[in-house]
Amino acid sequence: MLVLGIESSCDETGVALYDTARGLIGNQLHTQMAMHAEYGGVVPELASRDHIRRLVPLTEACLKEAGVSYGDIDAVAFTQGPGLGGALLAGSSYANALAFALGKPVVPVHHLEGHLLSPLLADEQPPLPFVALLVSGGHTQLMAVRGIGDYTLLGESVDDAAGEAFDKTAKLLGLPYPGGARLSELAKLGRPDVFNFPRPMLHSHDLQMSFSGLKTSVLTTVQKTREAHGGELPDSVRNNICRAFQDAVVDVLAAKAAKALQQTGFGTLVVAGGVGANWKLRETLGKLHIRRSPRAKPEPVKVYFPPLPLCTDNGAMIAFAGAMRLDGAQTAGAFNVRPRWPLTEIVRSGDTPVSAV
Ligand code: KG4
Ligand code: ZN
Repeated sequence: MLVLGIESSCDETGVALYDTARGLIGNQLHTQMAMHAEYGGVVPELASRDHIRRLVPLTEACLKEAGVSYGDIDAVAFTQGPGLGGALLAGSSYANALAFALGKPVVPVHHLEGHLLSPLLADEQPPLPFVALLVSGGHTQLMAVRGIGDYTLLGESVDDAAGEAFDKTAKLLGLPYPGGARLSELAKLGRPDVFNFPRPMLHSHDLQMSFSGLKTSVLTTVQKTREAHGGELPDSVRNNICRAFQDAVVDVLAAKAAKALQQTGFGTLVVAGGVGANWKLRETLGKLHIRRSPRAKPEPVKVYFPPLPLCTDNGAMIAFAGAMRLDGAQTAGAFNVRPRWPLTEIVRSGDTPVSAV
């Protein structure tokens, strides 16, 4: 089965082709970052218009890349939510129109399920069950994943998502939008021992997290530094702040992921979402050890990341999730979008196999 996947929930237009026999055979992406940069953030109206402009050319490029034609497509999957309403509607309208013209079904996909399943697109696939750490611009959640659609929310951020904290902190450090990835690059140049930011809720006994207070600490540090340097924020200090901020976020994420593995008894951790591209998170989780009991020796944890280009928004994860959800395919009535849509509302998907490769 050949599934075309359409992603348009925010500021990336993604179109990909996933073949259940051959795997991912086409993957095209257009990022609107440059367009939104001059406004310092995503402008929803501009995002919707740009998705409309890009969808057809990206589909044609994707078909060409895969060496197939429209007639070979068996189903069209698209992101139904959560995301920006207008942006989602652009993708939904296009997917429904294309599927209608081809006489094929559409498969509405939950964006976070796309992220959650994206590590299954890697060469080495995680075994079920696993704990998933979903770290994107809008969500920071720990999930117990027992099968496709069988997700239990274990804990989440009570305020800002980790990616949002990266972006907001980057903004107050004067970095251009989107600042998260840039901040993490500058953190490489910073010293780890100069600043020490709080690790909110690190020792709470549950799996809840909080990141909004962290940016306030950074703000105070930035203000003090500017006062001491005649209004300037020297590059070296800024880099040290980036390093300390990133260390604080990563410490919390790693500690909570470890606690989730202890609580569930699962031995595998899967990381998904844009912040999964962060080098420090990858390095730290790659060395994660947990104790199964207070006296037991720490055991290494097997951690799976999506391939780097599939961490941030893309069509491949939507095509893949769509292929895993073909039993939910619809011929009509899937036009609506769900800008707010908790992942835990997704129902379990029958006997659909996890891996179709
Ligand atoms: O998953 P994603 O592409 O979009 C959402 O569904 O939100 O995640 C985007 C988020 C942004 O907040 C961005 O700053 C963050 O992921 N991000 C990073 C890095 N690359 C992207 N955060 C930290 N370090 C990175 N290298
Ligand atoms: Zn996303």
